[in-house]
Amino acid sequence: MINESLIEILNIDTKILQEKKPQTEYKIKYVREYVLYWLKVSVNRPNIMYINFIDCMCNAGIYKDGDLCTSIEVLKLFISEAKYHTQINFQLFLNDYNKERVAILKRIINYYLEQEKIHNIFVFYGETDINDYITNFTLFDSYLLNEASNILFVDPYDLRTVKIDSIRTFVQKYYCEVIFNVMTSDFTRNKDDTRIFEVLGNKYDIYSVDKLMAFIIKRLKIGKMKYCFSYSFNNLKNSEIYQILFITPNIRGLEKLKEALRFVFKGMEEYKNKPSDSQGELFTLEDSNVEENVLLNCGKKTQADLLILFNGQRVSYKQIESFILEKSVLAEHHIIRYILQPLIENGKIHKCNISGKKSNFKQDEYEIGIKK
Ligand SMILES: C[S@@+](CC[C@H](N)C(=O)[O-])C[C@H]1O[C@@H](n2cnc3c(N)ncnc32)[C@H](O)[C@@H]1O
Repeated sequence: MINESLIEILNIDTKILQEKKPQTEYKIKYVREYVLYWLKVSVNRPNIMYINFIDCMCNAGIYKDGDLCTSIEVLKLFISEAKYHTQINFQLFLNDYNKERVAILKRIINYYLEQEKIHNIFVFYGETDINDYITNFTLFDSYLLNEASNILFVDPYDLRTVKIDSIRTFVQKYYCEVIFNVMTSDFTRNKDDTRIFEVLGNKYDIYSVDKLMAFIIKRLKIGKMKYCFSYSFNNLKNSEIYQILFITPNIRGLEKLKEALRFVFKGMEEYKNKPSDSQGELFTLEDSNVEENVLLNCGKKTQADLLILFNGQRVSYKQIESFILEKSVLAEHHIIRYILQPLIENGKIHKCNISGKKSNFKQDEYEIGIKK
């Protein structure tokens, strides 16, 4: 491992570090990739003053095997952008209630920053409970309310720790995107746990993972928060471990997320751990063939869902786009090829051609469920 030397260089006590779970590598890759795309857009926003990434349960910055935690991966992305955008402050807000972990994190961050001599990266540390941390407005008000791009990353070990209403309070106050790791396996195993009951706001009629996700989404998709997408991570036996829920005020955020998803998971509808004896990336076959088949299959399922949801209605491209981006792994640029064209060819939907151009799909409306 490349970073094993970092453990040695900084003489880090590995007893404090944690083992990395098999799925953690892909969780970090996914978040990192999204942050990369988000950064590229954010640095070009006019008048932007701050770029803020908040990892409110950030861990020590490094795992026992030497791999880096998300916060350090984001720091590295900040370092590569900050030198070209000196008018922007790149800020990390890092919190973990485990003080020993935060102490290690500080040493790792100082190590990177000292090497780079960059003056527009700032790191704010916290050592408190997540629920207190993200509802402490005095910390965030000075930076998140200005011309800023903000991501809140909430990454617990279990479902008992994070009060859904703490995140709700945060998103009501700040324009931001949220990446929330919802530990659904915890719910499946411990439905009757009173602490789960409490973090859900004493909600008592949730009996399935689908209902749990629907409840959380309903609590968090408020105000400016308009779009969401959740991606499932499964163990070797194909049981769900968690869903990474992404919520954004802007549909472009969802489009960027799909690019990250496609890059990291090659379009797979969910992530599944691979046996420890298999090596390398997610696929062993020729990637492009696998990806094409995955997209075709997903396209067919999504076509069927779309026909049911909008049956008998006339809908705009925008409505179709929102539905597809929220409910499937497909990206915006897949919509025409994997959804609209096959449905039109099979006579399942009728393209109204309101712009007068057959080739213009995006400024058009569609009648769903038209018979030949
Ligand atoms: C899954 S790890 C975070 C991993 C990290 N975000 C990453 O991507 O590499 C969860 C962290 O949450 C911290 N934690 C657990 N309960 C907490 C609480 N109530 N408040 C703040 N941090 C907490 C733990 O100490 C642990 O380091």
